[in-house]
Amino acid sequence: MSSSLVVGNWKMNGGPKACAALAAEVSRGLEVQPATVEVVLAPPFTGLAVVRQAIAARPIALAAQNCHDQESGAFTGEVSAAMLEEIGCRFVIVGHSERRRLFNESDATIARKVAAVLRHAMRPILCVGETREERERDQTWSVISRQLDSALKGLDEGGIDTVEIAYEPVWAIGTGLNAGAQQIDEIHRAIRNFLIERFGHTRGAAVRLLYGGSVNPANARMIAEIDSVDGLLVGGASLIAESFLTIVQSFVAD
Ligand code: PGA
Repeated sequence: MSSSLVVGNWKMNGGPKACAALAAEVSRGLEVQPATVEVVLAPPFTGLAVVRQAIAARPIALAAQNCHDQESGAFTGEVSAAMLEEIGCRFVIVGHSERRRLFNESDATIARKVAAVLRHAMRPILCVGETREERERDQTWSVISRQLDSALKGLDEGGIDTVEIAYEPVWAIGTGLNAGAQQIDEIHRAIRNFLIERFGHTRGAAVRLLYGGSVNPANARMIAEIDSVDGLLVGGASLIAESFLTIVQSFVAD
């Protein structure tokens, strides 16, 4: 398995000035970056250029939070994967539950976005996860397996090698409720089995599986210590440099 992956999803927070300041603080805090952790920052689109500058001297990568699936054209208000590649993104978050829920993104749209990101040599961070109602109705795995199946079925041979997957239970996002270790482990193992069945052992076992949903400095180490967790997707706590840096450290052995 490659290094762990810790992604800060800043969502719609901070104009360019605030983004530059936060990125500079994170960057300073990672002067001696643990070699075992890959750190990624996902500012809003308007922060991408300044964050790229702020992290230039560090092995921190840039991510976008979304993209359109077409290359260019009459799609007012949208940003293409080609544009994100040009501005320096190496990752794009795709299928975040806020996109699915608030912007009506369907499984089919998300599959096209995954393909667009891969065409531009960036890595999609594909988010999957169930709502509280779905969990209560025992539909957790049917929902997640449907999301995975749809997003990954069009991949070329080897396409999975550059995909990251984040399990984010919708009920845990921004709510302060995070899933218990056993719940996380159970879903991560099921996702791993799905990937191995679909892509074979070598490829399926190499995909990084992230957890996201109310990760904070107090619970990050407990989550990082779960064997099946290869990284974290952090929302609210990534907006405070000190908290985010503590979370990054949770993947470093004492
Ligand atoms: P949260 O968000 O850490 O604020 O719950 C996680 C996410 O939405 O990726």
